[in-house]
Amino acid sequence: MSSNTTLTVDNKAVELAVKEGAIGPSVIDISKLYAQTGMFTYDPGFTSTASCESKITYIDGDKGVLLYRGYPIDQLAEHGDFLETCYLLLYGELPTAAQKADFDYRVTRHTMVHDQMNRFFTGFRRDAHPMAIMVACVGALSAFYHDSTDISDPQQRMIASMRMIAKMPTLAAMAYKYSIGQPFVYPQNDLDYTSNFLRMCFAVPCEDYKVNPVLARALDRIFILHADHEQNASTSTVRLAGSSGANPFACIAAGIACLWGPAHGGANEAALKMLEEIGTPDRIPEFIARAKDKNDPFRLMGFGHRVYKNYDPRARIMQKTTHEVLSELGIKDDPLLDVAMELEQIALKDEYFIEKKLYPNIDFYSGITLKAMGFPTSMFTVLFALARTVGWIAQWSEMIEDPSQRIGRPRQLYTGPAERDYVTVAQRG
Ligand code: SDX
Repeated sequence: MSSNTTLTVDNKAVELAVKEGAIGPSVIDISKLYAQTGMFTYDPGFTSTASCESKITYIDGDKGVLLYRGYPIDQLAEHGDFLETCYLLLYGELPTAAQKADFDYRVTRHTMVHDQMNRFFTGFRRDAHPMAIMVACVGALSAFYHDSTDISDPQQRMIASMRMIAKMPTLAAMAYKYSIGQPFVYPQNDLDYTSNFLRMCFAVPCEDYKVNPVLARALDRIFILHADHEQNASTSTVRLAGSSGANPFACIAAGIACLWGPAHGGANEAALKMLEEIGTPDRIPEFIARAKDKNDPFRLMGFGHRVYKNYDPRARIMQKTTHEVLSELGIKDDPLLDVAMELEQIALKDEYFIEKKLYPNIDFYSGITLKAMGFPTSMFTVLFALARTVGWIAQWSEMIEDPSQRIGRPRQLYTGPAERDYVTVAQRG
């Protein structure tokens, strides 16, 4: 449904359409504003800007609500598995048993990568950050799959989507194995998605590897929590790259690059490093003071969010999963968890954090869990990228299928020099 609102610019009334969403804030359509007024809107960081219309994920930051295609994240995490969430995000509905079996079958049979991909790895130093390897290898997939890069063909788009979802765990595991000098482990078709990933990461040729079902279930749930999150920075990057017609593999590589930043997906790695730096609960006040000090660039990693001004619903589930994993592994008192729990308690009572509505986000507890599972800190954001690939792909597909879709091309407020004539070197003094 839409109505109108009036904006007065230079004493001239400009009628702007207001569009209502199914739930959440309405939008003022300003697409004709420049033509009507000769002015742009100005919103660095897009704090009040809707870049698109979407039916995939809804967040209510004040209430701490996250819905994937209308289903609350806690219910999906509790009752479903990651591939069911992938199906839901891609197709819009929960699968029937037959649809789920077919989807699992199709994903499983795309998990191998072209064997020549192995050669890319030998070009990297062993200590290369695995996110650098993922950006390179995912982008390079476009060199291998010419039969699924014609984005105007829905069939090719779906095959590319399946390939991306299926091959991310394989490439992620290869990046990990390469970093520790162990041989790559091929996917096993009789394992479920997340068990397959754990085996590719932690199996060695010298002995059988038995997947721990509790850890597999916990990691699968962690993937569900990370699957999509509306128009976050990396998803917006994927949409913008896709708006130029770039192939899906290149767009996902762009999303991985953006996710790497410590303000975004890199926060799980940064949060664990911060907890290690704090070391013991008695040093927490020193770090809280630094986080509040305007002259100190230090921020409490894993805290705060552009949208959530309440507890991130994913962080609650993440915290519960952390306890499950530590108890399954018999880790009675993890000093990092002690610091994290104490830090959370102190921060949530601190006036600064209350006033700025800073709560733990999904990255606050994930690092402790992944470290306990055996992943090195440098792999944390890779796992985030692995899970978010389905969200990126679903949002990219939605954009490509949107008939009103055009290349994204923002404008600017120019404050540089006005036109001036060239001055030769001799005249420059
Ligand atoms: C993710 O967008 C998404 O959906 C992302 C994500 C997803 O699933 O895709 O949810 C994943 O990226 C989670 C966020 C992970 N990042 C971190 O944990 C890094 C630490 N957090 C901050 O860098 C920050 O909170 C952001 C980047 C998450 C949000 O930044 P905003 O919205 O631009 O907020 P801001 O920087 O303007 O902060 C508002 C105020 C500022 O103080 P003032 O300038 O108003 O005085 O809050 C302060 C900030 O200084 N603040 C913090 C803080 N976060 C914000 N102060 C101390 N520690 C922090 N963590």
